[in-house]
Amino acid sequence: MSSTGSTARILAGKPVAEQVLAEVAEGVLALRAAGVTPALATVLVGDDDASAGYIRIKQRQAAELGFSSPHVHLPASASQADLHRVLEDFNADKDVHGVLVQHPIPAHLDYDRALQVLDPDKDVDGMHPVNMGRLALGLPGPLPCTPAGIEALLAFHGVPVSGREVVILGRGATLGRPLAMLLAQKRPTANAAVTVVHTGVADWPRYTRRAEILVAAAGVPGIIQPEHVRPGAVVVGGGVRYEGRRLLPDVDESCAEVAGAITPRVGGVGPTTVAMLFRNAVRAAQRAAGMG
Ligand SMILES: NC(=O)c1ccc[n+]([C@@H]2O[C@H](COP(=O)([O-])OP(=O)(O)OC[C@H]3O[C@@H](n4cnc5c(N)ncnc54)[C@H](OP(=O)(O)O)[C@@H]3O)[C@@H](O)[C@H]2O)c1
Repeated sequence: MSSTGSTARILAGKPVAEQVLAEVAEGVLALRAAGVTPALATVLVGDDDASAGYIRIKQRQAAELGFSSPHVHLPASASQADLHRVLEDFNADKDVHGVLVQHPIPAHLDYDRALQVLDPDKDVDGMHPVNMGRLALGLPGPLPCTPAGIEALLAFHGVPVSGREVVILGRGATLGRPLAMLLAQKRPTANAAVTVVHTGVADWPRYTRRAEILVAAAGVPGIIQPEHVRPGAVVVGGGVRYEGRRLLPDVDESCAEVAGAITPRVGGVGPTTVAMLFRNAVRAAQRAAGMG
């Protein structure tokens, strides 16, 4: 029981990530035994400290898992063509299986255009339009990391999803929209009745209050308050905003007093997102090696 008097079960992301990463490590071992070193390339543009830090964390984790991680650091003055050239080189390199462009990139560059240059099969973020299309059609391919992490989180904690009412607040390309497609798929860990609400639905609390599973994906700190939650519901906090290093979640902590289960403020969806990046990377290497 927490200091707020809540009895909500906490849906921690760390054990989910550990399980996924253990599977990734097994996959890497099998690839290496077959003579393939899986490679996850990283691209950093500019000198933003936070972005450089995120890249270092991912490179360290890649090394621990047995990936090689070739890295290109472009100056902040790099042009769109410079960025495209780096991606084209990685596309052509058959020893590179996945490519991660750390975002945000400097404002004069267009991330979406760059993403379209990347080989969709090497898109470990799962955000390339081809991969969004594959998701919409239920075809295999890299899945967007945060939605895939949320499905894995619910499955790991034994939250039934099939046949239940899921309401997602937010229809953004990173989270709400692909999550809606994913959780509506015909699969035991999905198979839900999904509703997506957004600024076009003025009375969105009417929908969130009837959700058996509520996912916050708006990026508006504190937008979900206890009165928006059905008593006993499962609440997943995906949306966050950063003010400097301070993380401001969509879901107000007091929601734990109403929810039956809830992700923690820190260590919920985040760790599962990173684990899915590596799952996409190892699967890309397995496919390239004919082992997928
Ligand atoms: N935890 C993680 O690991 C992780 C990873 C990736 C992303 N995220 C977070 O996920 C969030 C969503 O990202 P995204 O790129 O998918 O979305 P986005 O493009 O930022 O869109 C936000 C969505 O929320 C809706 N929204 C915003 N304010 C609202 C309000 N007052 N009432 C109702 N709806 C509102 C918007 O509605 P309209 O469409 O009508 O404008 C939009 O659909 C962000 O906070 C991001 O930081 C978290």
